[in-house]
Amino acid sequence: MTAFSTEIKIAGVTFKNPVMNASGTFGNGREYAELLDLSKLGAIVTKGVSLTPWEGNPTPRVAETPSGMLNAIGLQNPGIDKFIDRELPFLEEVRSSGTRVIVNVCGHSVDEYVSVIERLSDKPVDMLEINVSCPNVKEGAIAFGQDPDMLRDVTKACKSAAKQPVIMKLTPNVTDIKALAKAAEDGGADAISLINTITGMKIDVEKKRFLLANRTGGLSGPAIHPVAVRMVYEAAHAVDIPVIGMGGVISGNDALEMILAGASAVAVGTATFHDPDAMIRIIGEIGEYMEKHAVTDINELVGAVS
Ligand SMILES: Cc1cc2nc3c(=O)[nH]c(=O)nc-3n(C[C@H](O)[C@H](O)[C@H](O)COP(=O)(O)O)c2cc1C
Repeated sequence: MTAFSTEIKIAGVTFKNPVMNASGTFGNGREYAELLDLSKLGAIVTKGVSLTPWEGNPTPRVAETPSGMLNAIGLQNPGIDKFIDRELPFLEEVRSSGTRVIVNVCGHSVDEYVSVIERLSDKPVDMLEINVSCPNVKEGAIAFGQDPDMLRDVTKACKSAAKQPVIMKLTPNVTDIKALAKAAEDGGADAISLINTITGMKIDVEKKRFLLANRTGGLSGPAIHPVAVRMVYEAAHAVDIPVIGMGGVISGNDALEMILAGASAVAVGTATFHDPDAMIRIIGEIGEYMEKHAVTDINELVGAVS
């Protein structure tokens, strides 16, 4: 048996392994504490947190699709103050085991992002992930993520307010992901993560109605994985900052594809809905691959595709 290290570093923060949940698909970890050992995860990423409570979109908000799902939750959350009171103490406990805590931030305006970031400045949080890519919020958020100039500016504003390293989460709903990745890097981002969901639509032909009340929703799950791998590859080659890859990862093999394409870490989202233990299984499968291929340090695999 070969000894191997799965430790990775992003913006000076060390992770015990490169596997974390994707925001919005794992609650804030607490709901899953009885189902899996959270201390085995590289990090826990919270649901999107905004300045004030958001109600989210009307129901139905989720629909199954071939090899995936559509969601239009609309970033429902209780707001930063309740998050700090109710959720952070539990996350602090998990953090004491060495699992990193990343807070995902959403907002309608640059000022809202900045206010949330400021309230987290003295809190036990390792990194901030800024969601400028949610396709389900009408005012603002997607526009920030789709226009390179706006993305650069919002990144700068977030960076100057932040005490923790900042990850900008990119949308795949653009023609040129490289331009967006570069804009985030130019704005001072410490890392980027991608992909968020791909905008989709589903229609019930019998009822001649949209399946989601919001009409459109974000497609996630295995259906988007090859698109995500391509975008991670393109983004990773466009910038020098670390990349966190996600989109349809359900196995160690999928995670390794992301890593070989250039991701330093991988997030698992929709997979957890049908297999709550998916992340733990994926960590094990990455280890098996490393043993089989005598890889002693996971960092050797980052971007190693040829
Ligand atoms: C139900 C649901 C809720 C989500 N909520 C958020 C969120 O709050 N913030 C965010 O940045 N991304 C959110 N996402 C996007 C995921 O974090 C991830 O980028 C996307 O689902 C692709 O990964 P996957 O195919 O492994 O699910 C959500 C996705 C789903 C399915």
